[in-house]
Amino acid sequence: MRVRTPASILAAALFVGVLTAGIGAAGSLNADPAPTTAEWVSPDPDTEALVDHRQGVMRAVSGHMAATAAILLDGAPFEENLQMHGSTLSALLADIPALFPEGSAHEESDARAEIWSDADTFRSKADDTAEAAAALAAATEGGDPSAMIQAFSALGSSCGACHEDFRN
Ligand code: HEC
Repeated sequence: MRVRTPASILAAALFVGVLTAGIGAAGSLNADPAPTTAEWVSPDPDTEALVDHRQGVMRAVSGHMAATAAILLDGAPFEENLQMHGSTLSALLADIPALFPEGSAHEESDARAEIWSDADTFRSKADDTAEAAAALAAATEGGDPSAMIQAFSALGSSCGACHEDFRN
């Protein structure tokens, strides 16, 4: 088991707080009172790292989606970034199930138990999203606006299809 020192925990909490300020997911971290000595050592730091990682990946995905929407739908003048957003989304979403290994349920996670009890359905939703993201990446290479908008909207629907069944 890894033992963290108080100073590194505080620095990590402040860092995460700064990162997520405005997103709301962990914005309350800064307001928490200093942890007591018993709380310095997490009972399961490795699972916590997995949760932090996959939530961070999901927020990154969300950021690329928002930036893409602003360019594609609202005319933000950053067309030259569309391919980068498309290929990054495709890379981040290529293997969602790998972000959710067996045994990585955690009280700070919104992952539902069905991810593991109904793993086939979870994987099939993840595959739909990976395909939709690859299609968006291909469309951004082609550069046709209506093809990009169609691919973007299909990718957006695929996020909700998984969250509905597998996220609290
Ligand atoms: C195959 C299932 C699946 C797909 C597809 C999926 N997600 Fe998620 N997403 C989850 C699960 C499960 C969680 C909860 C993770 C946790 O809290 O451990 C989550 C969490 C999130 C979060 C919250 C992160 C946080 O800070 O807690 C965001 C934002 C998000 N997803 C955005 C997206 C977007 C945008 C897409 C589509 C481009 C997407 N997700 C596709 C399953 C999925």
